[in-house]
Amino acid sequence: MKKIKNVTCIGAGYVGGPSMSVFAENCPNINFTIVDKDEKKINAWNGDVDNLPIYEPGLKEIIKKTRNKNLFFSNDIDNAIINSDIIFIAVNTPTLKEGPGAGFGADLKYIISCAEHIAKIAKSDKIIVEKSTVPIKTAEKLNEIFSKNNSSVHFEILSNPEFLAEGTAIQDLRSPDRVLIGGNKSKSGQNAVSVLVEIYSKWITKEKIITTNLWSSELSKLASNAMLAQRISSINSLSAICDATGADIKEVSNAIGLDHRIGRYFLNPSVGFGGSCFQKDILNLVYLCRTYGLDEVAEYWYQVVKMNNYQRSRFSNKIIQKLGQDLTNKKITLFGWSFKKDTNDSRESASIFVAIELLSRGAKINVYDPQTSNEIIYNDIKEYSSNYSNIIDNIKYVNDPYKATEQSSCVGILTEWDEFKSLDWKEIKKTMVNEKFIIDGRYILKDKIEEKITYL
Ligand code: NAD
Ligand code: UDX
Repeated sequence: MKKIKNVTCIGAGYVGGPSMSVFAENCPNINFTIVDKDEKKINAWNGDVDNLPIYEPGLKEIIKKTRNKNLFFSNDIDNAIINSDIIFIAVNTPTLKEGPGAGFGADLKYIISCAEHIAKIAKSDKIIVEKSTVPIKTAEKLNEIFSKNNSSVHFEILSNPEFLAEGTAIQDLRSPDRVLIGGNKSKSGQNAVSVLVEIYSKWITKEKIITTNLWSSELSKLASNAMLAQRISSINSLSAICDATGADIKEVSNAIGLDHRIGRYFLNPSVGFGGSCFQKDILNLVYLCRTYGLDEVAEYWYQVVKMNNYQRSRFSNKIIQKLGQDLTNKKITLFGWSFKKDTNDSRESASIFVAIELLSRGAKINVYDPQTSNEIIYNDIKEYSSNYSNIIDNIKYVNDPYKATEQSSCVGILTEWDEFKSLDWKEIKKTMVNEKFIIDGRYILKDKIEEKITYL
């Protein structure tokens, strides 16, 4: 088997950064170079470990140990490609904004441009690993690009989807439930699979490394995310029934989850799932189903996203019901901007949609979150609201939870940061005015404090 010396990862984001860090930590004899077209991001990865582009518990400690030893961050994409034996592609695959499949299918333009660039630059055989989440049969598309643009080099494509969750990425990468590697059944395909298995087995037991054909691997990633998101939408749908009837969703969730056939994970009711993956991957699955004429299957999965949208609006509607349709001059504080605790990522966070709804009714919003900033909040609102210029002056970040709630009629909890549980809620109430309405969309204060709290 070929001895691997140099590995490149294209994409220094939430997947590329943490995953290659853990590779570097466990494979001291291999050099890992992470490249990105975003120069600012690479500079930040090479800068102060307290200001890395990604906040992820445990990450900066690994960066301190490995950076410039066997882990490198670079803008020199061409050299990294030329020198590497294996290239991971970990670029973003967002939902298509226009053209056929708009609003559902995955936009593969970043993956395709990586493949075209690799084909142009590569002078020796490479193993290309799809780390990004991609639709089924993407490997076929990549193969076409490689054979069309560079027939003198052999490119062997593997699918190795990433299952890390943000906030627990390092733990997930060090000790994953499984590693999935899909490859061609050909001799060269199976050789490439063995090479990647060998690398992972430096820290993961062989039983946890499963190998499949390419299409099963590509589909399993979409299917995993769809199944996880489906559980959240299911529990959130039940929270609406609880709200209407007086049953307690936390009690129901506990009772359901104790059945070992169901299990207790991903049964936490919430303001709806956020993050860059769930919605995008389910929409992609819906698109795939429609492409294959499986309309009933498509509709089944689409319902998971619809339920998520319903849950977000249930949260803003509760505030509107209490404070009135016209929120002009009402001050509201949102606790939590990131899509879950322990990350600075706010992509698709429920907070964005709740904030836009309340702002459009004239509310003034303060946001407190341990990992956000005005810059992040403004960018998020800009991305999702066509009314940006009219509403943006009415929302701001306040870097102190007690100051953030001053003069507010309502405090809404949208992210389950541990810090929120230990705040002095009696003190917070004192800073508030009028209705003093606290709504907990994460059920984190349940049984923790005596204050009267509204739940979803
Ligand atoms: P990200 O947006 O954080 O990072 C992607 C990076 O790729 C960006 O820095 C971008 O500048 C760079 N990039 C794009 N095109 C490039 C090109 N042609 N050359 C060089 N750099 C380029 O995205 P992410 O969250 O890391 O997700 C990456 C992929 O992994 C997606 O397909 C996603 O679905 C999947 N995934 C994400 C997570 C997660 O928790 N974020 C988990 C599992 C899988
Ligand atoms: C998800 C998948 O879990 C991971 O395997 C995949 O690789 C990437 O997508 P991530 O989006 O980072 O990871 O976080 P996850 O923990 O799955 O949470 C997603 C959203 O669901 C968050 O908004 C979270 O708060 C919400 N959630 C999660 C719930 O509302 N209830 C739950 O019980 C669990």
